[in-house]
Amino acid sequence: MNQRLNEEQALKNAHLLVRKYLGNDTTGHDSLHIERVVALAKYLAKFEDDVNLFVIELAALLHDIEDVKLNHAGSGVVQRFLDENDIPIDERNQIIDIIDNLSYSSTLKGKIERTKEGQIVQDADRLDALGAIGIARTFAFGGAKGRMIEGSESATLHHFEEKLLKLEGLMNTREGKRLARKRTEYIQNFLKQYDSEKNIRD
Ligand code: ADP
Ligand code: NI
Repeated sequence: MNQRLNEEQALKNAHLLVRKYLGNDTTGHDSLHIERVVALAKYLAKFEDDVNLFVIELAALLHDIEDVKLNHAGSGVVQRFLDENDIPIDERNQIIDIIDNLSYSSTLKGKIERTKEGQIVQDADRLDALGAIGIARTFAFGGAKGRMIEGSESATLHHFEEKLLKLEGLMNTREGKRLARKRTEYIQNFLKQYDSEKNIRD
């Protein structure tokens, strides 16, 4: 089959896989998160030269399917998908590598995205953790995991200092950094407003 047609079909199949495993997710990792990461990654790719858009799009589509903290799919689902869709071996390895190194916990373990494609998908995923959408996702995650808003050790409000406010400093691409600055500022304002309402200073 013609390579282009093959790629189009693989992308369509990946959308179906996303809907199957993340369609009912209530932790902020639902299909709409995935679609936003795809759109952000394609946008960031426009600022970079010579990147493989197919690898970027497929990695973005598949990046949360096997996330263990979500427990939606067992391991091996992504590898099987790549095999069944006849993705060429070098692209298959690139995609697996991107997904393995994407998360914040991987970053804390010293793992890095080695390719421009990986750096773009990682920036896209991080951007969706920031701004108004990031705030909504964070509380959705906390609620889904039975956590309090604040007032306990594991409360959701800690997640902002613990991780989200650090993401800006970890961005890979220039345009990613620019957007992260704006979205981080929005979160900082949200936290200030939260605090002022709490202390009846508004
Ligand atoms: P990563 O795997 O890099 O940590 P994910 O994309 O899986 O990132 O998670 C992203 C979003 O899920 C976070 O930005 C946040 O909104 C939510 N999230 C993850 N862990 C927590 C947590 N402990 N408390 C609140 N929200 C969380
Ligand atoms: Ni994600």
